[in-house]
Amino acid sequence: MKILITGGAGFIGSHVVRRFVNLYPNYEIVNLDKLTYAGNLENLKDIEHMDNYRFVKGDIVDSNFIDDLFEQEKFDSVIHLAAESHVDRSITMPTEFVLTNVLGTVNLLNAYKAHRNNEDGIFYHVSTDEVYGELTDEGKFLETTPYDPNSPYSASKASSDHFVRAYHVTYGLPVKISNCSNNYGSHHFPEKLIPLFINNIRHKKPLPVYGKGENVRDWLFVEDHASAIDVIFHKGAVGDTYNIGGNNEWRNIDLVKLLCKQMDEKLGRTEGESEQLITYVTDRAGHDYRYAIDSSKLMNELGWRPSLQFEEGLSKTIDWYLENEEWLDHVTSGQYRAYYEQQYANR
Ligand code: NAD
Ligand code: DAU
Repeated sequence: MKILITGGAGFIGSHVVRRFVNLYPNYEIVNLDKLTYAGNLENLKDIEHMDNYRFVKGDIVDSNFIDDLFEQEKFDSVIHLAAESHVDRSITMPTEFVLTNVLGTVNLLNAYKAHRNNEDGIFYHVSTDEVYGELTDEGKFLETTPYDPNSPYSASKASSDHFVRAYHVTYGLPVKISNCSNNYGSHHFPEKLIPLFINNIRHKKPLPVYGKGENVRDWLFVEDHASAIDVIFHKGAVGDTYNIGGNNEWRNIDLVKLLCKQMDEKLGRTEGESEQLITYVTDRAGHDYRYAIDSSKLMNELGWRPSLQFEEGLSKTIDWYLENEEWLDHVTSGQYRAYYEQQYANR
């Protein structure tokens, strides 16, 4: 089976590629990635020599390129992760999000529809719980929760989900969709809360907590997201949607304090030292209050379970960053400084 994985050089994509290349030697895995600021081939160093793996550099927005690639390669299945993924960037450059997340997805759907090799293959679209909007203190997102996206990022992902579903209904394309909560783990670009704060604690820089730090997110270890994608890809029902989450809600401020505590211990600092770095800054525009996922459908129907408790997963994550300081220094040089300045200088 020949599978195209898009966005495989990014955070989640690299974990999905690694899992499929290692677990399924009979599959031919092609990783298509534009290598934006968020894509990094260093994330895949350990598997780049494998016989069942190939990398192709390319942009999913370029419809001619995508059509040619699909015509030549005749993929059986697609696992689509390529996206602009950061909410704060979507607030300052929404059009980029429409291009990659909406048009890029439609280009892939068209090419797959025209050139797919195998009646049993599927187009698997990886999406987010942010399409459902925000929750109050009560309830959780179900697969049946109406879409109500609030940020340009979540609006673009919601739109892409609708196109995937529409291609199933209109053209009979075999699709699957999953909507996952916040991921954390190794190789996460330090623009997102956890890796950004790990890097700042390392350098004793301020920790910019938005608003009062009371927003709630439901965190899942990235390798558990990859295992859920594996289960849904192989066993999920065609045309269906599955929610993926860790049943692990944290207020941002409580998570940041836990992170400070674990890092003080690991760095041999005095207890409470890193908490002094917490700085409350202007809130994110349109900041969703709370996300929480009900993944009972995935657990009951397909038997998936997350593998790690949060404290243990966070500790493993911090260890990875401290053991891979070169990776962090590399991705935070150059453009990153300009981004940081623009996001945080006048906040
Ligand atoms: P990421 O930003 O780390 O990686 C995105 C990857 O896509 C990068 O390798 C980038 O180079 C590539 N890419 C971007 N634009 C491209 C284009 N035009 N053509 C080809 N490649 C392009 O993102 P991530 O956090 O790994 O998220 C992956 C997917 O999972 C996204 O679709 C995202 O919406 C979804 N998701 C993320 C989370 C999360 O917590 N990070 C949670 C749920 C769903
Ligand atoms: O829910 C899934 C989504 O989770 C994914 O679809 C997105 O791709 C992913 O980026 C993530 O979105 P969030 O906006 O929730 O993640 P982020 O790490 O940017 O922020 C987490 C919380 O921390 C959020 O409430 C905003 C807050 N925050 C974030 C940053 C970067 C801060 O307080 N300070 C910060 O500097």
